[in-house]
Amino acid sequence: MLSEDLIALAMERMRPYACEGFVRGRGPRGADLMFVGEAPGKTELEVGKPFTGQAGKVFSGYLDRLGVTREEVFITSAVRSRPYKIIEKVVDGKKVIKNYNRTPNKKEILAHAPILDEEIRQVQPKILIPMGKTAVWRLTGWNTSMQEITGRLFETSIMELESLDQKTYRPTKEKYSVFPIYHPAAILYARRLEAKAYQDIDQLKQLKDSI
Ligand code: URA
Repeated sequence: MLSEDLIALAMERMRPYACEGFVRGRGPRGADLMFVGEAPGKTELEVGKPFTGQAGKVFSGYLDRLGVTREEVFITSAVRSRPYKIIEKVVDGKKVIKNYNRTPNKKEILAHAPILDEEIRQVQPKILIPMGKTAVWRLTGWNTSMQEITGRLFETSIMELESLDQKTYRPTKEKYSVFPIYHPAAILYARRLEAKAYQDIDQLKQLKDSI
């Protein structure tokens, strides 16, 4: 679905950054729901599919509750390469080097912007579901706390890339239905969010069933 040229351009733009690999978004054109995460992690890179690691288990729970399969929805993220950081630690007197997933920065998000724009153009989802702050920022430019916006439907223009060189986005002419939810990993780190996250998913199910 994505042209090799578009992927090559993103990879070229990612060269200065500590990012590796490329995991394509997955799902059918015309999917009603498009989930937008942050970036793939180590497991996703190994498996070659989005949301297959620890956060993927929570994500599968979201889908079960919605009554949909992975094959019916489109799953992607703001960045499709794995951002990492190397940390040296001393454990029991021995130097250990660890390679961790990290949140993508604005430059990395920009480098991948043409990919997400293209996926949205091709899929034309009925509802765009940004999961977590990075995806909300990428799609809307909002810096709001998740607490204030999850489980609510916004009819809004979204941000599409205007110029890679100028590093600018512009609002789309069309409006989209955007329904932010917590990133599945947020629940792993903060169990107190779980009840609200599933309440939001129930709201989303009602919305999905009404379209
Ligand atoms: N987090 C994401 O945002 N995407 C994945 O594919 C995995 C974890």
